[in-house]
Amino acid sequence: MKRFAFVIHPIDARRDTSRKYPIARYLPERLIEFGLKFTSPAKVSHITGIRAKDGAEAEGWFIACPLTPRQMLSLPLDYVYRRITEACRIGADLGAGIVGLGAFTSVVGDGGVTIAANSPIPVTTGNSYTVATAIEAAVDANEKLGRTLAESSVAVIGATGSIGRTCAMVLGAEAKDIALAGRNTSRLEEVADEVRAAGGQSVSSTTDIKKALECADVVVTVTSAVDAVVHPADLKPGAVVCDVARPRDVSVRVAKERPDVLVIEGGVVRVPGDNVNFNFNFGFEPGTAYACMSETIMLALAGRYESFTLGKTVSVEQVRETQNMANRLGFELAGYRSFERPVTEDTIARVRQAAADAALSRSSNA
Ligand SMILES: NC(=O)c1ccc[n+]([C@@H]2O[C@H](COP(=O)([O-])OP(=O)(O)OC[C@H]3O[C@@H](n4cnc5c(N)ncnc54)[C@H](OP(=O)(O)O)[C@@H]3O)[C@@H](O)[C@H]2O)c1
Repeated sequence: MKRFAFVIHPIDARRDTSRKYPIARYLPERLIEFGLKFTSPAKVSHITGIRAKDGAEAEGWFIACPLTPRQMLSLPLDYVYRRITEACRIGADLGAGIVGLGAFTSVVGDGGVTIAANSPIPVTTGNSYTVATAIEAAVDANEKLGRTLAESSVAVIGATGSIGRTCAMVLGAEAKDIALAGRNTSRLEEVADEVRAAGGQSVSSTTDIKKALECADVVVTVTSAVDAVVHPADLKPGAVVCDVARPRDVSVRVAKERPDVLVIEGGVVRVPGDNVNFNFNFGFEPGTAYACMSETIMLALAGRYESFTLGKTVSVEQVRETQNMANRLGFELAGYRSFERPVTEDTIARVRQAAADAALSRSSNA
């Protein structure tokens, strides 16, 4: 039996804390965060029933690091590193051979490097397989809407980040054109050069997210912003938006106001095994997990107790390696989800029809 641990944390202080302490629903967000600051990391569940195609089995534990994204970005970095490292130690004490860093625990500071240096067991951010699944989901959903990547305009929001940069390199090499958006012009230009070197024919960059989105058929959005950065009026009719960020980048208003747009969550993966049980509700169908969790599990199943993805750079080779490992062990992209609901063939047909109607009314208004 192979063993792993995975560090999770509250995304929304009130919503996530009130699952365990219902009284939190009535408390101000800042008061809850104040309490969380002094709460120790702890084991929250035992994960069972994982069995790979080759017969390898694994069990694991979710360990909560009780800090929100806002706290992780605003508290002193040393303090945040210490809390995350404490969570890693709990995993090691339970017998895990590797620990994965969920959501913002992999975003803060140097992307896991300092945490790995102080953790008793190897650490992975899960970002390699997250890139693999984000690309697979975005390309596949675009095809379901009747377009190939070669005839599509792509936008990557958060393109200077660990996940965004590598998504841009892979997608940019095949897309008709690609727009990169971020906050820093010189970092964006560096990534644009890398995308061109990887084969991108038509590459632009901007710090104006709206501008990057206005012509995009395919959007991968993966910023570490704590509030939504993609809004209903920004999107082209018929766009596919793969939202990899946690907390989400896409405003919930898009679900209500833009029936002609398909928003999918990036990186939802079916984990191999007939009785996979996370014993914890993180809002997914049973047996499915985030790609970053899946990378941690597959490294454990393969007996590769090594710090596989660390730091702020993910190479295309690492992405391919996790994809190969996933195929060999039986991990696969699960059906799409959009704002916590499954996306059905009917949903896709409705988006196609609404996009055609929107395009028609735009051209008759022109
Ligand atoms: N779904 C999954 O399985 C999964 C797995 C891992 C991570 N994630 C999520 O993916 C996201 C990104 O992770 P990462 O490791 O790539 O982070 P990262 O390396 O820190 O990159 C974040 C990117 O977002 C940009 N950004 C930050 N705040 C912004 C704002 N307010 N407006 C516009 N752009 C902004 C940054 O620009 P600058 O260059 O200017 O800083 C950078 O390009 C996080 O939300 C994380 O929780 C999801």
